Amino acid sequence: MFITFEGIDGSGKSTQLSKIYQKLLLDGHQVIQTFEPGDTTFGKQLRQQLTQNSLDGQAELLSFLLDRSIHITTCIKPALAQGKIVLCDRYHDSTIAYQIKAKALKASWLPLWEKENLLLPNLTFLFSLPLPVIIDRLKQRQKTKQVNSQAILAHFDNNIELLTKVQKSYLSLAEANPERICVINAALSIEEITQQIYNKITSLLSV
Ligand code: ADP
Ligand code: TYD
Repeated sequence: MFITFEGIDGSGKSTQLSKIYQKLLLDGHQVIQTFEPGDTTFGKQLRQQLTQNSLDGQAELLSFLLDRSIHITTCIKPALAQGKIVLCDRYHDSTIAYQIKAKALKASWLPLWEKENLLLPNLTFLFSLPLPVIIDRLKQRQKTKQVNSQAILAHFDNNIELLTKVQKSYLSLAEANPERICVINAALSIEEITQQIYNKITSLLSV
């Protein structure tokens, strides 16, 4: 089963992903946690370029898709083929929300790329909460995260107008895909959210 975690920066995705990973492991499931941009040579380069703001729009879009192709081939598909549950922090909905909808990058060819290359998640959790709460959390997190992440934050997170558009775009994606995307009220406590996500996953695993 392929499960993705989506939402704007600071919405609590990685906190929940690691908690769910631990719970599923304890239950005896075979599970991996992964993320995009990925933990590959290319993914690292992409993060570096994002921090330096050195990519134009098309290069940024194509880079996220290339990173995704590598990730699907080298990590996600092999893990699924071994029967593992794959928990992924950000995936294709991020590209739709950030590059296509919020940044309005032109990509009339994208539906064809998706048809021929994209592996759709079975389930996506979309973390949604008011922007002011997110901004407070990001300020807190900036004090603790690594330098690399801080620079990425400078590229994306400090742009409130962009984040507002991203948030709206995510919600319209959820409306269009109610069977796949489960919207989580990310203002709830960490424990409550973990329980909701865990219940949803285990109910699907038992079908
Ligand atoms: P993301 O991976 O979506 O960028 P994080 O999981 O890193 O977000 O969370 C951002 C910050 O918010 C962290 O400091 C984290 O401890 C805190 N946080 C996460 N979930 C909650 C929650 N439900 N309530 C309050 N704070 C939270
Ligand atoms: P990261 O620090 O991993 O984000 P998070 O806040 O989720 O911990 O930074 C990744 C950034 O890259 C984030 O701002 C969203 C952005 N991004 C895109 O714009 N498009 C994409 O397709 C992906 C995967 C990420």
